[in-house]
Amino acid sequence: MIEKGTKIAEPKGKVGVLLVGLGAVSTTFIAGVEAVKKGLGKPFGSLTQMGTIRLGKRTEGRFPKISEFVPLAGLNDLVFGAWDIFEEDAYQSALHAGVIEKELVNQLKPELEAIKPMKGVFDRRYVKRLDGHHIKQGPNKWELAQQLIDEIDRFKAANGLSRLVMVWCGSTEIFIQPSVVHSSLECFEAGLKNNDENIPSSMVYAYAALKSGIPYANGAPNLTVDVEALRQLAQQNRVPICGKDFKTGQTLMKTILAPGLKARLLGLSGWFSTNILGNRDGEVLDDPDSFKTKEESKLSVLEQILQPDVYPELYKDFYHKVRINYYPPRGDNKEGWDNIDVFGWLGYPMQIKIDFLCRDSILAAPLVLDLALFLDLAQRAGMHGIQEWLSFYFKSPMTLPTLYPEHDLFIQLMKLKNTLRYMMGEEQITHLGLDYYQ
Ligand SMILES: NC(=O)c1ccc[n+]([C@@H]2O[C@H](COP(=O)([O-])OP(=O)(O)OC[C@H]3O[C@@H](n4cnc5c(N)ncnc54)[C@H](O)[C@@H]3O)[C@@H](O)[C@H]2O)c1
Repeated sequence: MIEKGTKIAEPKGKVGVLLVGLGAVSTTFIAGVEAVKKGLGKPFGSLTQMGTIRLGKRTEGRFPKISEFVPLAGLNDLVFGAWDIFEEDAYQSALHAGVIEKELVNQLKPELEAIKPMKGVFDRRYVKRLDGHHIKQGPNKWELAQQLIDEIDRFKAANGLSRLVMVWCGSTEIFIQPSVVHSSLECFEAGLKNNDENIPSSMVYAYAALKSGIPYANGAPNLTVDVEALRQLAQQNRVPICGKDFKTGQTLMKTILAPGLKARLLGLSGWFSTNILGNRDGEVLDDPDSFKTKEESKLSVLEQILQPDVYPELYKDFYHKVRINYYPPRGDNKEGWDNIDVFGWLGYPMQIKIDFLCRDSILAAPLVLDLALFLDLAQRAGMHGIQEWLSFYFKSPMTLPTLYPEHDLFIQLMKLKNTLRYMMGEEQITHLGLDYYQ
C-alpha cells in the first residue's frame, strides 16, 4: 500500500495508449480526443477532463478540477497504437462504425489514417462470429506473446514514448472459468508454450503488457487479468491492472437506480432488462458463448447492491433477466428497456419503466480516456496490482478473491475521489459534518 501523500513522478514525456481492437469504442475514443484537441468538441462524460473534487471543509470553498489536482498526462501527450484482426485504419474503421458523423471524421482524417492496426493475436475458437485475416502467425501462444512484446518495444522507440498503457477494446470472448493453468505464473507460462486452450487471445496480450511493465485495463467481460497467474505477474512487475467490462448503458442505469431503491427500503420483485443493438459488438454477443460472458457480468450487480441476505423481506428471490438482441438497423445506437417491479408501504406494488436510447461507444469513449490517464497516474504513484478504486468504470470490478466488489456507483465515486485525496495527502471526506455545529 502506498503512503498518504506519496511522491508521484511528474508526467513527463509522451504516453502510448495501446488499444486491443480498433472498432467502435476505440475509434470513438481516438477521434474524440483528436476532436477535443482541435476544439471541435468537449470531453463530456470524462471525470479526468470535466470533474472537480472537493477538498477540506465545505467552508473552505476548494473545488479544483481533478486534472489540476493530480498530475495527469495531457491529451497532447497521448500517442495511439492498436491491434486488430481487420486491416482497416482508424479512419476507415470510424466510418464503418458510424458512431461519429462523417463530417467530423473527415475533419480528423490525417490523424485517424495514421493509425494502422498491427496484426492481432486471434483464434476463432474464442470469438466465433469474427473472421479476420490480419493475424499474427506463430507455433504457440508463448511465441505470439514474444512477438507482441517486441512490437511494443518498437512502438515505444519509434514514437519516443516514456510510458505506455494498454486497454482492451476488443470483442467479448467465450465464457472461460479459472482453471489450473491460471493458478500460478509458472503454470500459465507452461500453458502458453503448450498452447493450452484455456488461454484465450486476450490473456496473451495481457501477459505481453504485464511482462513489459505496462498497466492493463480490461474493457470487456473476458476473464483475462482476473486470474491468479496474471495478478502474480502484475505484483511481481509492479504494474497496475483493472477491469472488467466498461460500465455504460443499462448497467450504469442499474447501479444508479438500485442504490436509491435500497436507500428508501423499497422492495424489488423483478427487474427485466432487454436491449437491441446492431453494431459488431451486438453481432459478437449474438453468439450464446460470448453472451454468457456478458450475461455473467451484467447479472451480478443487483445481487451485490441489494444484499438479499441482509434484507430478505425486500430482496430475496427477486427475478432478474437480461437479454441482448442483435438488431442491425440500429447500429451503435442501442435501445435498452427496463421494467422494474417494486413494492412499498404494506407491500403495495409499483412499476418503473426505463427506455434508454443510448449510444454505446459515446458512453464508453470517455471511460477509455479516464482509465488510460488514471492507470498512468497509478503507475507513477507506485501503485500496482488490482486498482479497486477504478471500480467506478466497470460492470464487474476486479477485487481480491476474498473481497466482494462494490457496484453502487456512488460508493465507487467516493472510493475513487478519496483515493485521489489520499494520494495527494488531503483528508478523506466522510460527510459527517457534525463539527460545523459544535
Ligand atoms: N460500447 C460499450 O458501451 C461497451 C460497454 C462495455 C463493454 N464493451 C466492450 O468493449 C469491446 C469493444 O466494443 P466495440 O463496440 O468497440 O466492439 P467492435 O466490435 O466495434 O470492436 C472490437 C474490435 O476488436 C477486434 N478484435 C476482436 N478480437 C481481437 C483480437 N484478439 N485482437 C485484436 N483485435 C480484436 C474486432 O475485430 C473489432 O474491430 C467489446 O468487448 C464490448 O463488449 C463495450
